[in-house]
Amino acid sequence: MKIFLRTYGCQMNEYDSELIESILRADGFAFVDKEEAADIILLNTCSVRDNAQRKIKGEICEIRHRFKGKKSPIIGLLGCIASHEKDHLLADKKFRADFFAGPDSYKKLPDLIRQGIKHERPADFVLSDIETYEEIYPKRKPGVNAWVSIMRGCNNFCSFCVVPYTRGRERSRSSASIVDEVKKLADEGYPQVTLLGQNVNSYNYDGVDFTQLLQMVSQIKGIRRIRFMSPNPKDFPPHLIDLIAQDPKICKHIHFPLQSGNNRILKLMNRHYTQKQFMEQIKKFRKVCPQLAITTDIIVGFPTETDDEFEDTVKVMKQVEFDAAFIFKYSQREGTLASKKYPDDVSEKEKTRRIVLLNALQKETSTQKNRELIGQIQEVLIEQKGTSKSPDDWEARTDTNKLVILPHANIKPSMCLPVRITAASAYILKAEHVTH
Ligand code: 5AD
Ligand code: SF4
Repeated sequence: MKIFLRTYGCQMNEYDSELIESILRADGFAFVDKEEAADIILLNTCSVRDNAQRKIKGEICEIRHRFKGKKSPIIGLLGCIASHEKDHLLADKKFRADFFAGPDSYKKLPDLIRQGIKHERPADFVLSDIETYEEIYPKRKPGVNAWVSIMRGCNNFCSFCVVPYTRGRERSRSSASIVDEVKKLADEGYPQVTLLGQNVNSYNYDGVDFTQLLQMVSQIKGIRRIRFMSPNPKDFPPHLIDLIAQDPKICKHIHFPLQSGNNRILKLMNRHYTQKQFMEQIKKFRKVCPQLAITTDIIVGFPTETDDEFEDTVKVMKQVEFDAAFIFKYSQREGTLASKKYPDDVSEKEKTRRIVLLNALQKETSTQKNRELIGQIQEVLIEQKGTSKSPDDWEARTDTNKLVILPHANIKPSMCLPVRITAASAYILKAEHVTH
């Protein structure tokens, strides 16, 4: 049986899809790159934002339509949507997914698929307090970066967020299994790993905390760059920034989600920090590690957010000058604390006004910050050949995670080289080779 797997959403889902592929290959299933060649279609879904349930129903209808007149594939719905929207999905007679699996049920997929083929419409959404899949080595695509999950789930219950409900309780994976996996990745030639967790600050396994884990990973020969996502501003480990500043392998980039610059909204969001505490952290980061790039996530139009409160977010963005920001309109998610307690009362028009304003502000800041790099020499890691504009150019990244375009040259993926930045826009740097 041939499987086509499509992944939606975050890096954790990408990693999960690699786990899923590994589990199913070990059971004799084959994977194909084209939907039309598949007997089984797996959709690994995300429910963090937007009307994900409606979208995924639409997607399933479209797949059925594309297969009209041919043998219809078995469709499996996996991941966060499956676990979050299970009651609706199972009750809906018209909606024709053949089986369902939540994020902690992937080891049962071979059986679920077999039952799905027999039209038994099985579903397994049980969330676990211990499942980390640590004994499974994901089936990765060749490339420069490897995702490595170090923990699963989340206990933070930010009031807007479904993740604690879809992915269950937080659990860390053993440091030994993480180190083994990264050693194997180094042997396979991956120069970069990105350690993933919903809140990496709370990584803890048998007394090993996140800072210690990073030190262990950094000692592995062959790994040249280590990235991680994401810490939470509420409890950023005090020594982590010192380690980032001192350790040449740990990339000089922190994704530090602000969400809102206003104290009342932060409180309603259940974020456990104030504007002042956030700003103090940023000040410390910049003092200890001046070259650090800082990126963020922001939500506009959280319930009851007034214009003045939104202006606090504008103010923080202006003061911090993030290198990049991912800005989202608040989207009410069923089951979250915010959806139970507060009305989604900021109009769509107002949310649009706020997001447009912040995106414009961020574009200006990113452009200005990137322009300051023109003329500088930066070390980049070569990622791949071929950009959307030119098949001969190369894509690379700075330590600070900025995308760099290099002209055609005799280089290969995974090489680290110094380049001179020659041009800059908000999202892309251009560079030339430095000849010694
Ligand atoms: N509405 C809008 N944005 C959200 N995010 C998470 N939940 C919601 C929601 N209900 C955003 C947050 C988070 C990022 C991954 O997605 O900014 O940091
Ligand atoms: Fe969601 Fe907050 Fe957990 Fe992040 S830390 S996954 S935003 S609940």
